[in-house]
Amino acid sequence: MKKYNLVIVGGGSTFTPGFLKSFCHMKEQFPLGKLVLFDIDAERQSVIGEFGKILFKELYPEAVFHYTTDIAEAYQDMDFVFMQMRVGGYKMRELDEKIPLQHGIIGQETCGPGGFAYGLRSTKEMIKAIYDIRQYSPNAWILNYSNPAAIVAEALRREFPNDKKILNICDQPENVVRSCSRLLGCHFKELDPVYFGLNHYGWFTHIYNKKTGEDLLPKLRALIAERGFLPQDAEQRDKSWLETYGMVKQLMEDFPDYLPNTYNQYYLYPDYKAKHLDPNFTRANEVMASREKRVFEECKVIINAGTTKGYINIHEDAHAEFMIEVAMSIAYNKNDRFIIIVENYGAINNLPDDGMVEVVAELGSNGPKPMRVGNIPTFYKGLLENQLASEKLAIDAYYEGSYQKALESLTINRTVNDAKKARIILDALIEANKDYWPELK
Ligand code: NAD
Ligand code: G6P
Ligand code: MN
Repeated sequence: MKKYNLVIVGGGSTFTPGFLKSFCHMKEQFPLGKLVLFDIDAERQSVIGEFGKILFKELYPEAVFHYTTDIAEAYQDMDFVFMQMRVGGYKMRELDEKIPLQHGIIGQETCGPGGFAYGLRSTKEMIKAIYDIRQYSPNAWILNYSNPAAIVAEALRREFPNDKKILNICDQPENVVRSCSRLLGCHFKELDPVYFGLNHYGWFTHIYNKKTGEDLLPKLRALIAERGFLPQDAEQRDKSWLETYGMVKQLMEDFPDYLPNTYNQYYLYPDYKAKHLDPNFTRANEVMASREKRVFEECKVIINAGTTKGYINIHEDAHAEFMIEVAMSIAYNKNDRFIIIVENYGAINNLPDDGMVEVVAELGSNGPKPMRVGNIPTFYKGLLENQLASEKLAIDAYYEGSYQKALESLTINRTVNDAKKARIILDALIEANKDYWPELK
């Protein structure tokens, strides 16, 4: 059985320990020759990397494992590249969230002005990293899930139009499917969803029972109305995620056609959400106090003990398992179905060809084969065209260094929708991002 070489870009991420555990558990299905962690932050990476060395020595001695800050060492001879960088770290995420909130506008990592700010930071570093990767591994599959995935996908589409081995993907649709399985009392692999949208802005039109073909959406609608909606792993989630999933009930009361992605709450209830988010303690603060703290503390305990035995409770989450399944579907030409971000070209018939949309696709060694959903109704089309324009204008602003395009991107965004507010927030974001953004004139 072929062994694959894989590098994780952003090796010091809070999600890396979960990946390392999942690679160990999935080694029979997806054997690795070499696993490398790459990060620009040596300190952050060494904690995760030293934990990884101990874990791999105990559970996966047959694979070569190492971590590095050297590009050549990281990218040589790779089959797969998993990209999970957070440009500017949690310090900048906090500003992305807090600056808009100071002006009564949604402050969120991927939606609205926060997503715009993070998008411009990610674009620059993602493009640079992909040129570096291609220098050493021209044929590796690049799986990107660095956020904001919608804006990054649009940037990569423009920068690398002929590179068909870059795939942008997000796990949230899959998380929603898993939540449905919890509610239905079945395994998530028994469900066969139909989905359309943009990243973090989509809907399930059907959730079929894979075996019988029955559409379970009516049953789910009734169950959600009666019991609400919870993440599959609710017991391990922070308070804000439980509130987020809780909003699905309200979304389905107001718009009962489809089952929404949880991120719809920011676009459809921007005033309500902005009023209910705490401007002094946003999700960035919550993550720093929970996931980040827990992951780094646990790694340090294991490093001090020199063994994972008796210590390991970093959960190997659904996220890692999902991304590894994506890689396996490509590696083994399985043509399994995933909800992924692709250039539209008719998948959603009444949206533009060059929009990066999120739909179901069969995924094999020759890339994704997206499934068509036909025409979408006017309401959804209007929402998505609006957001697509905002995302495209963000990338126009990046390439043209255009303040005007940036202003238009924020103004047209449903979470802002007001040119005066857009200008004030943009000016504050420019100041906060001066070490990261191209100059906007
Ligand atoms: P984190 O800050 O803990 O980890 C990110 C790491 O990236 C840091 O160690 C940082 O030093 C590193 N980094 C920053 N710039 C880099 C660069 N240019 N090259 C290499 N490494 C770089 O963040 P996190 O919360 O663990 O999330 C990691 C990323 O994964 C984020 O972009 C997040 O949004 C994304 N994510 C996406 C999904 C999805 O479904 N799309 C799911 C989970 C996480
Ligand atoms: C979901 C989203 C991702 C996001 C992740 C973590 O999986 O799809 O895009 O990065 O949640 O979000 P958090 O707020 O916990 O860092
Ligand atoms: Mn996502």
